[in-house]
Amino acid sequence: MIERLSVVPPVNAALPSPTKLAPSILTADFGRLAEQIRQAEEGGADYIHLDVMDGCFVPNISFGPPVVRAVRQATSLPLDVHLMVVEPERYIDAFAAAGADLLTVHVEASLHLHRTVEQIVSAGCKAGIAINPATPISAVREILPFVDLALVMSVNPGFGGQRFIETTTSKLRRMAEMIKEYNPTCELEVDGGVAQNNIRDVALSGASVLVVGSAVYNSSATPQENLATLRAALAG
Ligand code: DX5
Ligand code: ZN
Repeated sequence: MIERLSVVPPVNAALPSPTKLAPSILTADFGRLAEQIRQAEEGGADYIHLDVMDGCFVPNISFGPPVVRAVRQATSLPLDVHLMVVEPERYIDAFAAAGADLLTVHVEASLHLHRTVEQIVSAGCKAGIAINPATPISAVREILPFVDLALVMSVNPGFGGQRFIETTTSKLRRMAEMIKEYNPTCELEVDGGVAQNNIRDVALSGASVLVVGSAVYNSSATPQENLATLRAALAG
């Protein structure tokens, strides 16, 4: 099955234009968060990706609206808030008020997804939907015309620094085809394990927004240096 999936031909001969980088602050130094955000901004980040975890949908707890508000005060970049929480509809208004520009909810976490997406739009945000590695792309077929972004997880959500699940490139190609058919302006985001070694292949598979966490915030180099390295790898 995996072999059969991996022979799906690339949908793009070229990189999506523009290909956006969205640093995730999950592995940033929270003691100097504003500075870490500015470093990403200086390095040419397109979005700031914020991973909200509730200890229930995923086996980890991260942060809530107050941290989103603090990040909002540190940057004018769009805030891409990834809600890894059960019943995300309970928190949409709080995250919108905290300054989120884009709110992404998991299809596995929201029973009435269409209503949740409407709620996000009513709150003044762009709406995104996310799927876990084991969730088929068909799960988003009916909601796709209503959203601004579709997020394909390339690791099981919960932690930064995990290994990219290789079959995700095939899944991205199939998702890109579906987006082309049902909502061509929808962005395709990939999240988890994207780094220098695979960033170009991932983008060539059709992802137009690449979340980069530990590849940006690590002890080897500054966020600016890491973003430059990633941009260079992306360009090939
Ligand atoms: C995983 C999060 C990701 C992750 C990205 O649950 O949604 O955003 O932190 O970090 P890396 O790039 O290190 O996998
Ligand atoms: Zn994320």
